[in-house]
Amino acid sequence: MSQAQSPDRESTTTVKEWQPTIVAFLCNWCSYAGADLAGTGRNQYPPSIRVIRVPCSGRINPIYIIKALTDGADGVMVSGCHPGDCHYLAGNFYARRRFVVLKKLLKTVGFPPDRVHFTWVSASEGIRFAQVVEDITEKVKALGPNQISVGGDEVEL
Ligand code: FES
Repeated sequence: MSQAQSPDRESTTTVKEWQPTIVAFLCNWCSYAGADLAGTGRNQYPPSIRVIRVPCSGRINPIYIIKALTDGADGVMVSGCHPGDCHYLAGNFYARRRFVVLKKLLKTVGFPPDRVHFTWVSASEGIRFAQVVEDITEKVKALGPNQISVGGDEVEL
């Protein structure tokens, strides 16, 4: 039997499902360690995130999030230590306040706020990290590809 007539060949053909690209800003002390634990614990999650390790979620300027979106990311995730656990005491509270304002701003300008997510994941929550990534990936996937990408043009910020 030739390869073209093989029933096995037809049944193994799969259509590759679109995966969003999600930029994940992870605090070094908690969420990055949680991602590490998810990896060493072999907890499965979609290959959609591109991790950027930051010292604290409080270091995330909202401009970084907007820049990621205009550079073609389909979504952005910011994850830090749980309230009360920030290694710089209040960095995650500052991040949370900025994030609330950013979400309102995005909504005001007509950008789907569900493309950006803020979450807490500790160093001991590898399973939670995998679940969070899966949830966010599903939400971003439901929105489809990001249409506001500037398409390689430099954006002065
Ligand atoms: Fe983790 Fe501040 S050190 S959020």
